[in-house]
Parts: sequence; C-alpha cells; structure tokens
Amino acid sequence: MVQSECWLLRGLLGFICLLPMCMSAATDLCVPLKTVRESLNLSLRRRFMKMNFPINYTIQVHYEEVFRLRNISRLNMSNEEEPVLKRDLQDLWLWVSQRGIKRVLRVLPERHPTRHKYLSNLENLFRDFEALYNQRNPKDEERELPERILNIWYRLTDPSYEGWKSVTPKSILDNCYRTMLCLFKECFSKEDDNYDYCEVLNWRKGKKTT
Ligand SMILES: *[C@@H]1O[C@H](CO)[C@@H](O)[C@H](O)[C@H]1NC(C)=O
Ligand SMILES: *[C@@H]1O[C@H](CO)[C@@H](O)[C@H](O)[C@H]1NC(C)=O
Ligand SMILES: *[C@@H]1O[C@H](CO)[C@@H](O)[C@H](O)[C@H]1NC(C)=O
Ligand SMILES: *[C@@H]1O[C@H](CO)[C@@H](O)[C@H](O)[C@H]1NC(C)=O
Repeated sequence: MVQSECWLLRGLLGFICLLPMCMSAATDLCVPLKTVRESLNLSLRRRFMKMNFPINYTIQVHYEEVFRLRNISRLNMSNEEEPVLKRDLQDLWLWVSQRGIKRVLRVLPERHPTRHKYLSNLENLFRDFEALYNQRNPKDEERELPERILNIWYRLTDPSYEGWKSVTPKSILDNCYRTMLCLFKECFSKEDDNYDYCEVLNWRKGKKTT
C-alpha cells in the first residue's frame, strides 16, 4: 500500500516537472554549466592545453575571438540608449568559446590526446549547455542589438575578415573559464561570498586564479 502511494507520488512529481513552471527555473542551467566548469579546471587546462603542446605554441584566431573580462567590462559600460544586456554577453561567450575549441581542434592530428581525451568531450558539453540555454532564454526577435554588439557579430561571422592574432591554446580556455564565472555568477558564487568574478584585478592578484 505504502509502496503504491509512493509510486503514485513519484509519477505526479514527474508529471509536474514537465509543466512550464518547472521549465522556467533558471537555476537548472547551472547543472550543465557546473559540468563545464569541472572540465575547465586548472589542472585539466594545464595538462591538455599546455603540456600537450610544444613550448610557446600558438594558434591564429580572429581578434573578436579573444573575449576577456576586460571586454565584458568595456561592453557593459553604461550606455542609456543602447544598453547591453547580460544575455548579449552570454551569447557572445557561448559562440566565442565554441569557436575557440574548434580552432584548436582544427590544428590537432586525429589521434592527439587533447582531441579525444578532452576537447571532443568539452565540445559536447558546450553543445548540451547551449541547447538548454536557448530553450530557457528564447530569443526576442523584436529587439535590436546594440551597435557595439552588432559590430562584433558582424566581424565574427564575416568570412572575408582578416584580423589575425596569435594566442596560446590554453589562453583560449583560461579566458573562457574566467568570463564564464563572471557572466553566470549566480551559478558559482556562494551566499557568503561577495567575491567579484568580473573584477579583472581579483584575478591578477592571483587569489583565486584557477
Ligand atoms: C580537476 O578535475 C580532475 C578530473 O575530474 C580532478 O582529478 C582534479 O583533481 C581536478 N583539479 C582541481 C584543481 O580541481
Ligand atoms: C617561450 O616564450 C618565453 C616568453 O616569450 C621566452 O622567454 C622563452 O624563451 C620561449 N621558449 C622557447 C623554448 O621558445
Ligand atoms: C576584446 O578586446 C580586444 C582588445 O583588447 C579586441 O581585439 C577584441 O576584438 C575584443 N573582443 C570582443 C569579442 O569584443
Ligand atoms: C554590468 O553593469 C551593471 C550596471 O553597472 C552591473 O550591475 C552588472 O553586474 C554588470 N555586468 C557584468 C557582467 O559585468
């Protein structure tokens, strides 16, 4: 008897969670994002993005594919007429991060350990997160993007644009990691923690330079 009630309850709870009420909980974006974070931890970044490459190895990326905390603070500076939303910055982060992973994959031989033990998996984690993110934050087709953001998208997607910069593979993921903590801080800060992940100087001081 008790057991069947238990099943019934479980069925009901399962049903309730299919309803939009459950769907709109923004915090469940944090689950896949925390998995991404674990894969981006410092020891993994070092091992797969630095030690597995020749010393001082760099790859070529477009200028706009470098997305750092400084870019965020610059873009976020108040402009009353065309405010940049967190969403705009998160969209950029998602795109640039995935593009960075692709840039590194493109130079790796088929059997390179960084490819099959690390980046392929990371790419999938990003894809899972992106699917959920787009589902939870449907695009507002009416909204016009601020010009600063539009210009970046324009250059990011312009196939004939030639502005190349050399970066180390590790720096791509270092930036991806830091900007993630800043742009999704609800997922990562603890209640008693007023540490500002968006503050460039905090990272410089190296207290939590992970
Ligand atoms: C990073 O993740 C790996 C694998 O999950 C784990 O073994 C390692 O201890 C972690 N390192 C840090 C610095 O958290
Ligand atoms: C790597 O770069 C650093 C800093 O630019 C330089 O001092 C060092 O000599 C380089 N190492 C090699 C092996 O090229
Ligand atoms: C970030 O800033 C650098 C210059 O510091 C710039 O070259 C790059 O295009 C910026 N990235 C984005 C995505 O705006
Ligand atoms: C952007 O600026 C607003 C207002 O100054 C601030 O509340 C917000 O935390 C900033 N966002 C980021 C990602 O730096």
